[in-house]
This record gives sequence, structure tokens and C-alpha cells, in this order.
Amino acid sequence: MTNETILEAQNLRKSFGGLIAVDDVSIQIAKGSMHAIIGPNGAGKTTFFNLLSGMMSPDSGKIFYKGENITNVAPQRRAHMGIGRSFQITNIFPNLNVLENIRLGTQAMGKDNFRFFSLAERYPIYVEKALEVIDLVGLRGREGVLARNLAHGEKRKLELGIMLSTEPELLLFDEPTAGMSSEQVPELIEIINKVVHLKSSTAILVEHRMDMVMSVSDRITVMAQGRLLAEGTPHEIAHNAQVQAAYLGDLYGELV
Ligand SMILES: Nc1ncnc2c1ncn2[C@@H]1O[C@H](COP(=O)(O)OP(=O)(O)O)[C@@H](O)[C@H]1O
Ligand SMILES: [Mg+2]
Repeated sequence: MTNETILEAQNLRKSFGGLIAVDDVSIQIAKGSMHAIIGPNGAGKTTFFNLLSGMMSPDSGKIFYKGENITNVAPQRRAHMGIGRSFQITNIFPNLNVLENIRLGTQAMGKDNFRFFSLAERYPIYVEKALEVIDLVGLRGREGVLARNLAHGEKRKLELGIMLSTEPELLLFDEPTAGMSSEQVPELIEIINKVVHLKSSTAILVEHRMDMVMSVSDRITVMAQGRLLAEGTPHEIAHNAQVQAAYLGDLYGELV
């Protein structure tokens, strides 16, 4: 983690009719950090996430990526600037195998991207890169399996692999463990953690289960009812009375 800020949001606000989903939220994400955004259901986390990735425009406020104002920059353009978003921009091709799915990602960002659908054999460099990613996400040995035949947890790994294949500097995850069984969760969180440190990238991890992020996050921002409730180290957040109260008020929330 460095002192350099890679992403900064200033006073973001987004409402739906009369409901203010994100109410004047500011955040600074340090380069190289794992920064979690947590909060009870309905806190506005996904809406905030959508503002950061460009899927939604804020009513007011500004977003800066590496010092550049990206508030009105389209999501695809943000992706090319190095902001990778899981599970939305990247799509699995169900009838291609694991290797091909990931290779297409590595190739899409390479110089030869006009030959997007060319044969793998002609571009060994991309295959090599794809195999590196496959190792990283724990799919070694499953390269030849068609994506549609993967187990649910493996599909999540593949989605992560496709996102990593484009070598983003900033990774955005909105509840990446949603729908996974509790035994599979630590592995995926560990893979994300490994990626951030190995690739010196930065991750913003949105999660409603506080316990999931405590051990891996450098900093935690807590949202409740659209507002920023607290920010600090995992230790500070775990001992924050306001945070505990917010989670107690949420039937689905879980305390540390
Ligand atoms: N597209 C939308 N239209 C109307 N209301 C929305 C929309 N998206 C979210 N909301 C509302 O905004 C609030 C925050 O939702 P959300 O950002 O999904 O919270 P979280 O991800 O923290 O659970 C909720 O009350 C939700 O019902
Ligand atoms: Mg959400």
C-alpha cells in the first residue's frame, strides 16, 4: 500500500425518486490497498459501486481516477483506463473452455486484438499469459473444461480470471462471494487478496458480511442508510460502537 490515491470520490449523491441511495459520500482509495466497503443491506453500497464503475451517473459529486476526472466517462472507457469490474463487463462464453475464455481477455488488451478470434496456437504468448491467470485463480487442471460445465464456485473463479486477464490496476468487486457456500468463500477472498499483493493492484471489495473482509482489508469504509458511517482500519471498525449499532439494526447483518 502507498500514500498515493488511485481513486477519489467527492460528495457523491444518487437518488431514486424520493429515496437518497447515496448521500454525500466521499472516499479515497490508496494505491495498492484492499479497501472494503461494508454496510447492512440497503445501505447504498451497490449504488455507490455503480457510480464508481460508471454504470450509473451521480446526481452530483465527482470521481477522480489517477487524478483525472472520470465522473462522466463511460464504463467501457473506464475499463480501458484500468478499472476492472467483476461480473458485469466481463462475460463468460459458455461454449468455450476455461483457457479460451481467459485467452480472449489477455488477447483483447494486446496489440493483436483485431485478431480476436484467431487460433490460440498462433499466439503462444497469450496462451502463456492465460495459463498464468489460470494458476492464480486456482483453475489449473481445468483448462479444457467448457465454461458451462464448471461448478458454480469454479465459474466465479473463471469470472475473476477473465477480469484479471485484462490486467486492470483497480479491481472492483460487488459481493463476489454472493451465492457461494460458506466453505468456498475463504478461498475466493484469499485469491483476491493474493492477486492484489502479487500484481500490486488495488481492490475495492463491497460486502455486507463484515466478517468476510476483516482479515484481508487494509481499510474499511462503512455505509448505512446511504451515508458514510465510519472509516478506518479493520480493528478500528470492529470496535466502533456506531458500526455495531448499524449492524444490530439489520436482521441480515452479521457481527464480527
Ligand atoms: N435502480 C433502483 N431504483 C430504485 N431504487 C433503488 C435502485 N437501486 C437501489 N435502490 C434502492 O436504494 C437503496 C440502496 O440500495 P443498494 O445500493 O442496492 O444497497 P446495498 O447494496 O447496500 O444493499 C435501497 O433502498 C434500494 O431499494
Ligand atoms: Mg448490494
